[in-house]
Amino acid sequence: MLHRERSTDWLRAASLDFDAYVAERVGVRDRWGVPSRVWWYTSGEYYLGSLVLRHRLIDDEGGGHIGYHVVYPWQRRGHATRMLRAALGRCSRVGITRTLLTVAPDNVASLRVVDRNGGVPDGVNYEGEARFWIDTSDQ
Ligand SMILES: CC(C)(COP(=O)(O)OP(=O)(O)OC[C@H]1O[C@@H](n2cnc3c(N)ncnc32)[C@H](O)[C@@H]1OP(=O)(O)O)[C@@H](O)C(=O)NCCC(=O)NCCS
Repeated sequence: MLHRERSTDWLRAASLDFDAYVAERVGVRDRWGVPSRVWWYTSGEYYLGSLVLRHRLIDDEGGGHIGYHVVYPWQRRGHATRMLRAALGRCSRVGITRTLLTVAPDNVASLRVVDRNGGVPDGVNYEGEARFWIDTSDQ
């Protein structure tokens, strides 16, 4: 999961000073207690979605290594499938040779995205989310 809470407070910060908002988020940052990087996807002036790559799993492995979302108008066009594929291609560069994805069992779209990228099922985690591993050792 990309966002573990649904607050929209971030929108206010972004609208007050967008340059500062961006400057605080570029590059590798400590989030959830682990180094991570966020990519924003855009098409011209439009925001398509985001992907976060955690360079290490958090202690309870919740959320796995990668989270993503695509905003509604841009869904079902293959963006998430391609975003995840691109992120998997970066994993070995940051030392991740086995990449963990976790998905709520009723999230049909995300399950499909993971399946399209070769996710191998590995039970469920403590939150009831399905776990999947992808070998990223040779990417
Ligand atoms: C999950 C999510 C990222 C998918 O984004 P997307 O860009 O629409 O995904 P894609 O276009 O790559 O679609 C992948 C597959 O899922 C299918 N799919 C997409 N949305 C679907 C839906 N609502 N219902 C059923 N299938 C769906 C697509 O048809 C496609 O199937 P195909 O590979 O057989 O053609 C997007 O729905 C989203 O942001 N959801 C909310 C946040 C979220 O759940 N993030 C993931 C947490 S693990």
